[in-house]
Amino acid sequence: MRRILFVCLGNICRSPTAEAIFRHLLTNKSLESRYSCESAGTAAYHVGHSPDPRSRQAGEQRGYRFETRARQFTLEDFQDFDWIVAMDDSNLHNLRRLDKEGKYSSKLFRMVDFLRTKKAAEIPDPYYGGEGGFENVLDLLEEACDGLLEQLEKTQES
Ligand code: 4NP
Repeated sequence: MRRILFVCLGNICRSPTAEAIFRHLLTNKSLESRYSCESAGTAAYHVGHSPDPRSRQAGEQRGYRFETRARQFTLEDFQDFDWIVAMDDSNLHNLRRLDKEGKYSSKLFRMVDFLRTKKAAEIPDPYYGGEGGFENVLDLLEEACDGLLEQLEKTQES
């Protein structure tokens, strides 16, 4: 079983959306026994909160289910997860800062690196933007989740 952790800032918009999409993919492909996923935020602002209603509404319209509550990334997550996937460069920077000795650098990834046809420098933070931002996040994350799973399948371990 390989464990994937999606990380953003607040854990109420992008990373819970990535988690919902990836879980949906695992169910559709009957891969739940091979992979599991969770999400976390580097900040504590929204700990215990449900996903942002705008993320939720946009995602549910595409058939995804949101059942998580926000939690903050902890140092133990470096050990508990195999692939830790950051939504933007600031999230990645925060994770690298927590990994003081660089011990876990091989577990850290950027979500945009799994995009195939779409081009984006990062999964943009939709929190302070308009409704279009949430659709854009979904479009990017759907493609990146496909790419991520493909990559995981190519690099099979035990
Ligand atoms: P997320 O979005 O990192 O995708 O969950 C944000 C949620 C909340 C805030 C920023 C980004 N905030 O500043 O409260």
